[in-house]
Amino acid sequence: MTSRLFKTKPLADLLADTQDKDHQLKRTLGPVNLTLLGIGAIIGAGLFVRTAAAAAEHAGPAVTISYIVAAIGCAFAGLCYAEFASSIPVAGSAYTYSYATLGEFVAWIIGWDLILEYAFGAATVAIAWSEYLNKLLSHWGWEIPYALSHSPFETSPDGVAGMVNLPALIILFLITLLLIRGTQESAFVNGIIVIIKVSIVLLFIGFGWSFINPMNHTPMIPEPSIIKSHLGSDISFGGIMGILGGAGVVFFAFIGFDAVSTAAQEAKNPGRDMPIGILASLAVCTILYILFSYVLTGIAPYTDFRVSGKEASVAYAIMHYMPGFEWLALLITVAILAGFSSVILVMLLGQTRVFFSMSRDGLVPPIFSDVHPRFKTPYRSNMVFFIFVGLFAGFIPGSVAGDMTSIGTLFAFVLVCAGVWIMRVKNPEMPRAFKTPLVPFVPIMGILVCAAMIYGLGRENWMRLGVWLAIGFVIYFTYSIKHSRLNKK
Ligand code: ALA
Repeated sequence: MTSRLFKTKPLADLLADTQDKDHQLKRTLGPVNLTLLGIGAIIGAGLFVRTAAAAAEHAGPAVTISYIVAAIGCAFAGLCYAEFASSIPVAGSAYTYSYATLGEFVAWIIGWDLILEYAFGAATVAIAWSEYLNKLLSHWGWEIPYALSHSPFETSPDGVAGMVNLPALIILFLITLLLIRGTQESAFVNGIIVIIKVSIVLLFIGFGWSFINPMNHTPMIPEPSIIKSHLGSDISFGGIMGILGGAGVVFFAFIGFDAVSTAAQEAKNPGRDMPIGILASLAVCTILYILFSYVLTGIAPYTDFRVSGKEASVAYAIMHYMPGFEWLALLITVAILAGFSSVILVMLLGQTRVFFSMSRDGLVPPIFSDVHPRFKTPYRSNMVFFIFVGLFAGFIPGSVAGDMTSIGTLFAFVLVCAGVWIMRVKNPEMPRAFKTPLVPFVPIMGILVCAAMIYGLGRENWMRLGVWLAIGFVIYFTYSIKHSRLNKK
């Protein structure tokens, strides 16, 4: 039994699977598309919403340093992802890598865990998209009725009950259609969206720079103190702890670079282009994030974000401290909507690719690896996930899902870092187009930094992760172990 659980899938089998005619994806993505895919998944709610929250409740102006800390953690994991994605160019990302290194059971755990990152991530962002659509419409005096833009678990301050979050369902549906139509088409639309959102971020940085008030950055690292969070609990503000707490919050803004690796089987030249896509998108976003957070905390005092602004913090800062630039506040809302759409797109793409591989291996039903005869996309899987993610986005409030997304991602990062190290020891001869530098230092640091962030997410989130994994174990032992192709051999 134990040997079955830890049986690894031979590399030769992994590569042979990609030649299987009935389950073949089209190789259409080059280095630029892959980098844009990464940026598409990365810039979203994390930057536009969480920057101000991290400044207000954790780090003050040192949120810029929090971004650097989170970026270092992601860089360690990104370097490990790059080695795997270049040497095992098969769909499915961390799931596939762990099947080759740590065995079927760990692979199952990680595949199951990635649902938290991709499917729950897509649902969370779809709910946020719906909120921002309402914000944008309110500029022109329109509003989607409360009942049709909230889940049945929510009630407005004046007592109107929610029914269904229709805008969230509509955006998920439109993106699902695009994904079914084709990966290249989806990458094209993603590219346009990325250009829009990056341009608006650059406009904010460029115009905002001259409105920076040096007083707002003094001191850069506030003295440590204890403050009340918006939920009423005590939290450490300022100092080193504030910076670390802020890093945990803004980590969400980096989630998504790993989604590039799920499309390895659709890359034209994965050995070279996968590392470029992963590391370049991470580098571009890190630079943008550092500048953006520096400007935002320079324009408005971080204490403002404790009382006003909240999730519309960037628009708030512009309206109050950048006279003459009110138009930019409107553009920021457009950038946010665009940003959210591409995050949903890449998350859904990633989710279906992970299940594509799991299904080909027999761990989930075959429907998830059926490829459309003409479009060459896993269309049935796209439809099933539209229903799954749609049920979540349409009928459940979005409050806890964000942290679930973070903990699921961090857990996957830990396993990937460990996998690279194990594979170097077990299979040193394997050809690797890209090699992670300084092994085992980089994987160990990746594990430590990500584990520290998991610790920082708190007991409640560890429990949720535990319950989710327990459900996964039940499915594994009742279905997957019996249908596993590797076990049948
Ligand atoms: N990084 C993505 C975002 O910030 C998940 O929305």
